[in-house]
Amino acid sequence: MKVGIVGSGGREHALCYSLKKSKKVSKIYCFPGNAGTSKIAQNIDININDFEKIKNFIKKNNLDLILIGPEKPLVDGIVDYLENQNIKVFGPNKIASKLEGSKIFTKKLCQKKNIPTANFGIFKSKIDAIDFTDKCNYPTVVKADGLAAGKGVYICNNKDESKLAIEEIFEGKFGEAENVLVEEFLKGEEMSFFIISDGLNYKYFGTAQDHKRALEGDKGKNTGGMGAYSPSRLDEKKLNDKIIKKIINPTLEGLKDLGTKYKGFLYAGLMIVNNEPYLIEYNVRMGDPECQTILPKLKSDFAEIIKACTEEKLKDINLKWEDRKSLCIVLCSEGYPDNYTNNLEIKNLKDFKSKNNEYIFHAGTKKKQENIYSNGGRVLNFVVLSDEFKDCRNKAIKMIEKLNWKNGFFRRDIGYKVIDT
Ligand code: AMP
Ligand code: GLY
Repeated sequence: MKVGIVGSGGREHALCYSLKKSKKVSKIYCFPGNAGTSKIAQNIDININDFEKIKNFIKKNNLDLILIGPEKPLVDGIVDYLENQNIKVFGPNKIASKLEGSKIFTKKLCQKKNIPTANFGIFKSKIDAIDFTDKCNYPTVVKADGLAAGKGVYICNNKDESKLAIEEIFEGKFGEAENVLVEEFLKGEEMSFFIISDGLNYKYFGTAQDHKRALEGDKGKNTGGMGAYSPSRLDEKKLNDKIIKKIINPTLEGLKDLGTKYKGFLYAGLMIVNNEPYLIEYNVRMGDPECQTILPKLKSDFAEIIKACTEEKLKDINLKWEDRKSLCIVLCSEGYPDNYTNNLEIKNLKDFKSKNNEYIFHAGTKKKQENIYSNGGRVLNFVVLSDEFKDCRNKAIKMIEKLNWKNGFFRRDIGYKVIDT
């Protein structure tokens, strides 16, 4: 089978690595990939927003299957576009992708299907929104509707902060805004819950917790994710059953009511309050770095699973998982998430040998001749599987120290809630 992957981050390197292990896969192409994927696949320098060029390449080279990594092309309808050309694609269609593409779409679906979520109001005008937040309890949460690359969510501690957030959103900081979402702040513990679906059936695909803030102690600015661990410490049957019954099933039913179905990974960002799950957001893809953290635990043939999903045969497949724990630390460019410099050589990387149960997934890297250079804010992911989270973290830190890249920084406290010091 010849497979294509759209995307270039750590998530896509992990997807590529897992596909490569399958005997069913003869060749992988990455659009456009990174230095890590170039070792096990062929990188194709096509912009991920150029659907036509991707389609032409797929047709010309007879690819059997395409996986879409990031949200932007999904929300923009790449799945509908490729399927119209009779190409097999793993990922949700444009309507289903609204679960991530529009927070207001998701909130309305929650309302219709009685899915537990924070109480909210949707406002079309700045004045109405500000009026409302004048009477709110604080903290309160103000959100832009559309994709905002992890930004566009303001946790506001007082009226002045919420006013500023509302103004910034309506001034177009995250793209043209027709409305703004204001919601109640939920106090609890976050948990990310993943499923994989073929449109007819779905299966549990693990849980994780990421660390979004740049600095230790969950301080500093929001980032794409500085590390993650799997499973979440909240992962247990009773809660998982509630998540499925109260959140996942009604969501999939809601899509059915709209005349569509969900194929792909679905990532529910939840807040668990007194053992009850509330939906904070949906992502219509695997998380990054959650994907890198979870996939090494999968014992079943990943290519078979994805192929089955594109043929509505997921029901016939038994997903087997490692019982061990997994933890990922992200090595970032100094200065991220603000300003950082690209094109800095990562000298020790090309000869770096990882041990069993230790993985390095590339994110923002680029190969020039035989050397590897940084090419983004999040540069490398160090993932370790072990019986104990503490051992995972110690080993991941050792790998980073051994690499000794002078232009990087990372958090040493990933997983602190599940690791005693
Ligand atoms: P989102 O992009 O909607 O996931 O929001 C980003 C982050 O903001 C989440 O991961 C939460 O940490 C936080 N957040 C969003 N909405 C709420 C809420 N209603 N209550 C508490 N925290 C929230
Ligand atoms: N790690 C968060 C995300 O992928 O959205």
